[in-house]
Amino acid sequence: MTRTALVTGGTRGIGAAISIALKDAGYKVAANYAGNEEAAARFRGETGIAVYKWSVADYEACTEGIRQVEAALGPVDILVNNAGITRDAMFHKMTPQQWREVIDTNLTGLFNMTHPLWPGMRERKFGRIINISSINGQKGQAGQANYSAAKAGDIGFTKALAQEGARAGITVNVVCPGYVATDMVMAVPEPVREKIIAQIPVGRLGEASEIARCVLFLASDEAGFITGSTLTANGGQYLT
Ligand SMILES: NC(=O)c1ccc[n+]([C@@H]2O[C@H](COP(=O)([O-])OP(=O)(O)OC[C@H]3O[C@@H](n4cnc5c(N)ncnc54)[C@H](OP(=O)(O)O)[C@@H]3O)[C@@H](O)[C@H]2O)c1
Repeated sequence: MTRTALVTGGTRGIGAAISIALKDAGYKVAANYAGNEEAAARFRGETGIAVYKWSVADYEACTEGIRQVEAALGPVDILVNNAGITRDAMFHKMTPQQWREVIDTNLTGLFNMTHPLWPGMRERKFGRIINISSINGQKGQAGQANYSAAKAGDIGFTKALAQEGARAGITVNVVCPGYVATDMVMAVPEPVREKIIAQIPVGRLGEASEIARCVLFLASDEAGFITGSTLTANGGQYLT
């Protein structure tokens, strides 16, 4: 049976690498994105993977987007909650809007995407939910109170839902990447990036494909005994 995977934020960076790895492994794949049409069109052209535009921060849009994906590809068996944004600022300068945007996308987005898919996974007695959190959800990061709170929330969400899904054959796991060479990290000024790299024991940024391999492992039928776990991939930067 060919399983269907849906990857949020699946057209760029880590999400794109995840979409491609899943496709190469034989899954049917749908990649969601928020608004960067150029990147989505390029990704679709290069990979042949179907792309779907909606915001994970909008519950109704998620429900409708999932309906379209399932009409085209069949029931979603594997959900990768990867979409994420940063709106960094020291807390005394952080605006309510910066707080809300990050919480709405990086935390509530997981509810918005998982909730509509959950009943079908329960009925079919199979599901793989893989959430992409962050090293900064594990250790906290100055300038990212919003991001760290959301990403720590992703870990709690994973652990709670894993307990609910276990009897229904649904596993829920979370991957915590360290710093990975994507647009998100390349947007950080170079001197700051150099300082970050100096703190990574393996001496380099991660590759998006290295995070994709973690997801591929957790998505497989054979990973059914692994649920509620936090898989850390950060080059040794933070050991939990
Ligand atoms: N890069 C790192 O070092 C790092 C480290 C730890 C964790 N992470 C996490 O890994 C995930 C991917 O990061 P990345 O570096 O690959 O990011 P990225 O290169 O900035 O790509 C982000 C992707 O998410 C999509 N997206 C953003 N907001 C969305 C929304 N509201 N609805 C739907 N899609 C949305 C974007 O769509 P558009 O293309 O349309 O904008 C894009 O496809 C994020 O959750 C991030 O927090 C990244």
